[in-house]
Amino acid sequence: MHLSGTWSILNGLIAALLFSTLTPAIELDINDEQSIKDAASTTTYGMMKWYAGNETGQIPGSFPEKWWEGSALFLALLQYWHFTGDDTYNPQLSQGLEWQSGDKGDYMPSNYSSYLGNDDQMFWGLAAMMAAELKFPDTGKFSWLSLAQGVFNTQTARWDTTACGGGLRWQIFPYQDGYTLKNSVSNGGLFQLSARLARYTNDDKYTKWAEKIWDWSTSSVLVNNKTWNVADSTEMSNNCADAGNYQWSYNYGAYLMGAAYMYNFTNGDEKWKTPVDGLLQKTLKTFFPKGIFEDITCEPTKKCNFNEILFKGLTSSWLAFTTLLVPETAALIKPKLASSAEAAAKSCTGNGNSSCGITWYQNKWDGTTGMEQEISATNVFLANMINFDTGTFAPVTAKTGGNSTSDPNAGSGNGKDGDDAREKPITTGDKAGAGILTLLFVAGWAAAMAWMVIGA
Ligand SMILES: *[C@@H]1O[C@H](CO)[C@@H](O)[C@H](O)[C@H]1NC(C)=O
Ligand SMILES: *[C@@H]1O[C@H](CO)[C@@H](O)[C@H](O)[C@H]1NC(C)=O
Ligand SMILES: *[C@@H]1O[C@H](CO)[C@@H](O)[C@H](O)[C@H]1NC(C)=O
Ligand SMILES: *[C@@H]1O[C@H](CO)[C@@H](O)[C@H](O)[C@H]1NC(C)=O
Ligand SMILES: *[C@@H]1O[C@H](CO)[C@@H](O)[C@H](O)[C@H]1NC(C)=O
Ligand SMILES: *[C@@H]1O[C@H](CO)[C@@H](O)[C@H](O)[C@H]1NC(C)=O
Repeated sequence: MHLSGTWSILNGLIAALLFSTLTPAIELDINDEQSIKDAASTTTYGMMKWYAGNETGQIPGSFPEKWWEGSALFLALLQYWHFTGDDTYNPQLSQGLEWQSGDKGDYMPSNYSSYLGNDDQMFWGLAAMMAAELKFPDTGKFSWLSLAQGVFNTQTARWDTTACGGGLRWQIFPYQDGYTLKNSVSNGGLFQLSARLARYTNDDKYTKWAEKIWDWSTSSVLVNNKTWNVADSTEMSNNCADAGNYQWSYNYGAYLMGAAYMYNFTNGDEKWKTPVDGLLQKTLKTFFPKGIFEDITCEPTKKCNFNEILFKGLTSSWLAFTTLLVPETAALIKPKLASSAEAAAKSCTGNGNSSCGITWYQNKWDGTTGMEQEISATNVFLANMINFDTGTFAPVTAKTGGNSTSDPNAGSGNGKDGDDAREKPITTGDKAGAGILTLLFVAGWAAAMAWMVIGA
C-alpha cells in the first residue's frame, strides 16, 4: 500500500514534470504577421474541435441550448479566412451560416424560433452582414446581404412603443422572462446592423433607423451621452426609469461599432465622432484595468458563463474594425489589442493541447476549457492583423466591390414569424428551453451566475 502510494506520487511527479515541459504554449510575436496567423490557426483548430455540424447525421451550425453561439463561431471563422487567407474551414462556414437562416431567410429557424431573444437573432444577422462586407461568396438559397436585411426587417417590425418611448425588447414572446426588458445589446446590435446596412447599400431607410435607435438609446437610461456609461438593461414595468448597470464589454462594443460605421458612412460627421471617442475611452478605461482586456463583472470572481466568455472576443473584433473605419482611433486601440493578445496566448497552455483560458490577465492557463475560450482567443489574435493592413481589410460596400445580392424585403417581416411561433402550441420542452436560454442570456444576473460557475 505504502509502496504503491509512493509509486503513484512519484508517477504523478514525473507526469507533471513531463507535462509542464511538453505542454505546447502558443508562441505569439505581435510584430510578426506569420506568428499571428499561426496562433490563430492553432486556436481556430481548437475551436472547430467543438463543431460537429459537418459530420454525417449532424445539423450544420446547430448548437442546441446555446444557439446564438454558432454565430460567434462563424464570425470568428469569417475573420480567420479574411485576415489569414486560409480557407480550410470555408465549407463548414458557408454551410452552417446558411443552414441556420431558417425557411424565410431571417435567422428565425423553426427549431429555435419559439425561444429566441432579439439579441440571439441579431448576432446571426451581424455574421451574415460581415460575410457580405468581407466578400465571402454567396452560395446558398439566401444571399448574405439579404439575410442581414431579413433580420433587420423582422426586428424593426418589433420596435415597441408600449413603454419607454420605443426600443426593442430583449426577448420576442410574452411567455419569455426577458419580454418586459429592453436591453443594450439588442438595441445596440440593431443600431449596428442598421448602420452597416446603411453604409453597404446607401439606402436611406437604414440610415433613418440607425439614427432612430441611437436617439432612443441615448434618451433612455441605457446609453448616457455625457458619461458614456452603457447600462445592461431596463424594466418596462416602471417605464424604464432606472437600469441594471452591470458592465459588459459587448454592450459598449455593439454601440461603438455602430457609431464607427456611421462616422465612416457620413464621411466623418462630427455627430458620430463624439460618440466614437466617448464610447471608446469609456470602454478602454472600464475593461482594461490591468492593461489587458477583462470582462470585469465576471472574471475576478471566476463566474463567467458561456455567453460572457465570448463578450471580449466579440468586442476585440469590433475594436479592430473601428480602427479601420475611424483611423484616428488606431493609436489608442492597437496597444490594448496587442497586450491582450500576448496575455491570451500565455493562457493557451491547457490540457497538453494548447487549450486557452478565460482570464487572460493571469498570463497563464486558468484551468478552464471550452469552445468559447478558443473563439475569444482567435478573435483577439486576429484583431492584431490590422497592423499589417495594406488597404484590403476594411469592410466593403456595394460600391467598393461588395456584390452580395440585395433583397430589401427579405425575411418574413411584419413580425409574422413571431405570430407563427406563437400559434404553435408551447410544449414543456419549449418552456424548458426558453428558461435555459433565458438564464444563459441574462447577462450579469446573479441567479444565472450562481449556477453557471465555470471552472473546477
Ligand atoms: C484539448 O483537450 C481538451 C480536454 O480533453 C478537449 O476538450 C479539447 O477538444 C482538446 N483540444 C484539441 C485542439 O485537441
Ligand atoms: C468536419 O470539419 C472538420 C474540421 O473542422 C474536419 O476535420 C472533418 O474532416 C470534417 N468532416 C467531414 C465529414 O467533412
Ligand atoms: C431542425 O431540426 C430537424 C430535425 O432534427 C433537422 O433536420 C433540421 O436540420 C433542423 N434545422 C435547423 C435549422 O437546425
Ligand atoms: C444626448 O442625447 C439626447 C437624446 O437623444 C439628445 O437630445 C442630446 O442632444 C444629446 N447630447 C449630445 C451632446 O449629443
Ligand atoms: C472610412 O473607411 C475607409 C476604409 O478603411 C478609410 O480609408 C477612410 O479613411 C474612412 N473614412 C473616414 C472619414 O475616416
Ligand atoms: C462576386 O464577387 C466574387 C469575387 O469577389 C465572385 O467570385 C462572384 O462570382 C461574384 N458574384 C456575382 C454574383 O457576381
